[in-house]
Amino acid sequence: MVCLGNICRSPLAQGILEKKIETHNLNAIVDSAGTGSWHIGNPPDIRSIETANNNGFSISNQRARQFKKLDFEDFDLIYVMDKTNLNDISNLDYNNNHSAKIKLILNEIYPSSNMDVPDPYYGNESGFEIVYDLLDKACDKIISKLNNE
Ligand code: 4NP
Repeated sequence: MVCLGNICRSPLAQGILEKKIETHNLNAIVDSAGTGSWHIGNPPDIRSIETANNNGFSISNQRARQFKKLDFEDFDLIYVMDKTNLNDISNLDYNNNHSAKIKLILNEIYPSSNMDVPDPYYGNESGFEIVYDLLDKACDKIISKLNNE
């Protein structure tokens, strides 16, 4: 799960998918990262932590990190939150060896729409609930695909 800062959207996406993986007894590892370096080592934004708490899980132990090229080797799927993330991550994949595994997460629920998960950082709490609802639905779709594998 990749966003810009790894403090708002992708930590929520990680927590949501981890919870669903546990509920469905699946064997998969989820991690998250940011394309930017500003927040490395920081916990998620308090508004993301509270959104997770309100929905029954905790992300407060997560710490931000920056996406690194080795992640292309370590992960089978790389879900990005928006088209800027897609562009930034694709630019790290010099030879386009991994382009098939880089996906806009909302294309899971709105195929081929190329919609962005809106960046809630500069908004108020309501933006975080909107992000949660979108990611929850997208992660349900990811789970149903994993279940069918
Ligand atoms: P995120 O949100 O990419 O969902 O973690 C942001 C967090 C921090 C900043 C921008 C977006 N920032 O500019 O510091």
